[in-house]
Amino acid sequence: MSLMGILDRVADVSSFDGVIEPARRAVQKVLPPAVKDVLHGTWLGHPLHPVLVHVPVGSWLSAGVLDAVPPMRPAATLLIGTGVAASVPAALAGAADWSEQESGVRRLGALHASLNVVALGLYAGSLTARARGRGALGRALSYSGLGIASLSASIGGHMSYTQASGASHAAMAARALSTDWMDLGPLDDFPERRPTLRTGNGSGADVPLVAVRRGTRVDVFVGNCAHLSGPLYEGRIEEIHGHLCLVCPWHDSAFDLENGEPRRGPAANAQEKLEVRMEAGRVRARLHARHQV
Ligand code: FES
Repeated sequence: MSLMGILDRVADVSSFDGVIEPARRAVQKVLPPAVKDVLHGTWLGHPLHPVLVHVPVGSWLSAGVLDAVPPMRPAATLLIGTGVAASVPAALAGAADWSEQESGVRRLGALHASLNVVALGLYAGSLTARARGRGALGRALSYSGLGIASLSASIGGHMSYTQASGASHAAMAARALSTDWMDLGPLDDFPERRPTLRTGNGSGADVPLVAVRRGTRVDVFVGNCAHLSGPLYEGRIEEIHGHLCLVCPWHDSAFDLENGEPRRGPAANAQEKLEVRMEAGRVRARLHARHQV
């Protein structure tokens, strides 16, 4: 069985949920909403965790190379310390994301986090050994840490590439849409300031859209939330930080009606917005051409 197959099996094991769920609730309770939004990367319009992990991973990998060259070992020690310090914000961002994911992602995420804790302990031990002049032990510990951190990184990659954790679920849904103009019906049929379900023509299956009318203006988005595909057409309109937003009914992510950018997490990706034009009192919408396959 491939490594990916093994990880899929692990994601199905529910035995540890009794431990994982209290940990998840604790993360949700401890982190204030504003801090969580910073950690999700909502302000950046991109998940923050993959941005932050570059520092510990890059530092530790570089330290591994420098440790192989004796005169460079003091620089390796400095890089290991940098990686240990940088792992703290990276772990906090990962924990914030993890606490708002589906069960399979949470199970693998718990394994990913546990391995990272082991790697961090090995690197902390390596720094201690180096400070006491026990260089050989320090190098053994840091190379062990690098092995564990690499295994953990491959699990993180599986969570992103296979389980679509951190990916925009709206962008995935958008790919099934036609890029031709679609007729969504007469403007008079759209209620004022209320998310309304419309159906877009897809290549194969229909794709849900959500439309919000404000007077003669209609904003149309892909109906599946960028975070985890929640039904935005069952959401609500709310003003967040001075922006009128479409709010998801599942985890309360808020997307700016003007441009789809997230104004409140857990979503960090923008919601896919369609071009709209009026034709003889009817609303027409089409997907931006960048999604064409
Ligand atoms: S599905 Fe989570 S906020 Fe929409």
